[in-house]
Amino acid sequence: MKFFLDTANIDEIKRVNDLGLCDGVTTNPSIIKKEGKDFKEVVTEICKLIDGPVSAEVTSYDYEEMVKEARDISKWAENIVVKIPMTEDGLKAVNTLSKEGIKTNCTLIFSVSQGLMAAKAGATYISPFIGRIDDMGENGIRLIKDLKKVLDNYGLESEIIAASIRTNKHLEDSAIAGSHIATIPGNLFEKLWTHPLTTKGIKDFKKDWDSFQQRNK
Ligand code: G3P
Repeated sequence: MKFFLDTANIDEIKRVNDLGLCDGVTTNPSIIKKEGKDFKEVVTEICKLIDGPVSAEVTSYDYEEMVKEARDISKWAENIVVKIPMTEDGLKAVNTLSKEGIKTNCTLIFSVSQGLMAAKAGATYISPFIGRIDDMGENGIRLIKDLKKVLDNYGLESEIIAASIRTNKHLEDSAIAGSHIATIPGNLFEKLWTHPLTTKGIKDFKKDWDSFQQRNK
């Protein structure tokens, strides 16, 4: 499973990248707003840092405008992926852009049919939002499982990015369901490698070792 970071925070990206765990980055307008920096500047800075795809989202919703914006964004760096919202105009844009060799990430996917449409239109990535589905009292992981099955059934090449991940369990269940990628918020990453029993184990080993050393002095 590839790990993408769902953030535009340079410190968070560097920290995870230094562990060799950052295979890519995803952003959206809310994530960019949070950093308060210029959109193009922050995205190109991330593209230089990361040896992997970096998603930057269009901010228009009309087909012509989206395609124009996407063509411009795609020139910012070699590893750019243009994020396109899942609408009729978005599908048309994905279809046009994929024919031009521009990589796309079709975002805001909440159903199997939306994912299937995006994959057939030629999206490089499809992003189901599992946390937001759970927020509605439905089952986000079920959607990941179903989408994986549908892509496999028909040999569709899009890769699933499990997005809107909020908990360790979301990540674990996405991996079990066979999601190709998980995009993980920066503040969740640390929780993935820590466990109270690991912390306790280290503390206990250190205590025993220190007292053993004292005894042998
Ligand atoms: O990748 C999509 C993500 O940024 C949305 O997450 O937590 O706002 O639902 P969230």
